[in-house]
Amino acid sequence: MPALIDAVRGVYERPFPEGLAAERAHFKALVADPSSKALRHVFFAEREAARIPGIDKEVKARPIAAAAVIGAGTMGGGIAMCFAQAGIPVTLIEVKAEALHVGMERIGANYATSVKRGSLTQEAMDARMALITPKVGLEAAADADIVVEAAFEDMGVKAEIFGTLDRVTKPGTILATNTSYLDVDAIAATTSRPQDVVGLHFFSPANVMRLLEVVRGETTAPDVLVTALDLGRRLGKLPVVVGVCYGFVGNRILARRTEAAERLLLAGALPHEVDAAVTDFGFRMGPFAMADLAGIDIGWRARKAAGDKAVKAPVADALAEQGRFGQKTGRGFYLYPEGARAGERDPETEALIVALSAARGIARRSFTLEEIQARLFYPMVNEGAKILEEGIAARSGDIDIIWLNGYNWPSITGGPMHWAETVGLGRIVAGLEEMAAETGDASLKPAALLQRLAAGAGTFAEAA
Ligand SMILES: NC(=O)c1ccc[n+]([C@@H]2O[C@H](COP(=O)([O-])OP(=O)(O)OC[C@H]3O[C@@H](n4cnc5c(N)ncnc54)[C@H](O)[C@@H]3O)[C@@H](O)[C@H]2O)c1
Repeated sequence: MPALIDAVRGVYERPFPEGLAAERAHFKALVADPSSKALRHVFFAEREAARIPGIDKEVKARPIAAAAVIGAGTMGGGIAMCFAQAGIPVTLIEVKAEALHVGMERIGANYATSVKRGSLTQEAMDARMALITPKVGLEAAADADIVVEAAFEDMGVKAEIFGTLDRVTKPGTILATNTSYLDVDAIAATTSRPQDVVGLHFFSPANVMRLLEVVRGETTAPDVLVTALDLGRRLGKLPVVVGVCYGFVGNRILARRTEAAERLLLAGALPHEVDAAVTDFGFRMGPFAMADLAGIDIGWRARKAAGDKAVKAPVADALAEQGRFGQKTGRGFYLYPEGARAGERDPETEALIVALSAARGIARRSFTLEEIQARLFYPMVNEGAKILEEGIAARSGDIDIIWLNGYNWPSITGGPMHWAETVGLGRIVAGLEEMAAETGDASLKPAALLQRLAAGAGTFAEAA
């Protein structure tokens, strides 16, 4: 910004050729800046994400004139709003009338807030509400060209829903699931048309967040994938194709950061130190402030349900067991006296963390900001490399786009994979080896791809 101002001012205050020369000098300095390079990477990675490898350009999208959403909860309501905003009529389906009523009220209240703020006219709100038809029973999905299921995260529930959708929807209807962790291939196998099943992983709040992970199942038909990307763009989203695995790309990498953040607490850091290292890096919020905001109980219940697959979070679990759920209970990783939104350090939580370290025989030590950042982010880069090796993401740029748009990774560092290359992959490999040796955790050992690239085999982009 100061360079822009100076360049404009230069034309008025100096002879024109001198002004031009000053502008050129600013440009030369800025274009070589790492943040400029990172932002250019983001620009091209976004455009590249629209290309699906292995799909013929001739493949046509299926027409989508009407949609249905199953479940009027947090996600279903937001997804229905996305369709209405794009002018696509949508039937919102629940099992019971009460849940439907609550869901519709929430949507209405959401739009009413926008009208009050002046970002939406009353007419536009009425038009959107008129596009959402609430209905009880899955039979109401009969006329939909696409159904997005956003019911409970439970394989039994999803299997029953997809079995019924298979019976009641017309041939060619795309059957999508918004699951966060369940196996999309297993969901597809509950139908007689697995080629029509795809994952559409929206992020919360679904009507606001730009990222959409399009989960390509083993059997997903090419035209279903093309339709999903097309539709994603119609809904104003940034769709990125990912493969089937636990947590897909975004949440799978997030799990590594959660694990690393918890490990730092047990090793000697305190929540505010970890959060400060993350906000200093450019994120709006650290992982523990985030957990307090989202509700520690949500992750705790999800971890219990996921069993072995769940990320290890002993501190969060211990807090949840004491009823410390975060902001909603006034205490979690931090204290929130009288409904305060910004947390304060909580001596009780800190004592609990120290006790957990002692119980594990860990001698606590202090960490610098840079050490905390390395311990949090290197394992994420490692997971990204594994995701690339497995073909779960087609390009390292896709991983960057996912973390920038779904998890608030600061764009001026270009995303985790771009950032890793600016740090130097050799340094990341050495850091991971050290962490793996110190913790005995084999999952921290550098991925083969990372080792190859660090040894001089090129960049992530060249490896794809
Ligand atoms: N909450 C998030 O941040 C988030 C983010 C991404 C994906 N997801 C996924 O989205 C899905 C929904 O999550 P949520 O947070 O909206 O849950 P939620 O509990 O808020 O809503 C689920 C809704 O589905 C309804 N439902 C359950 N069974 C049904 C059936 N057979 N037919 C119709 N409706 C039914 C419930 O009555 C409920 O209203 C889950 O698979 C979850 O993993 C959630």
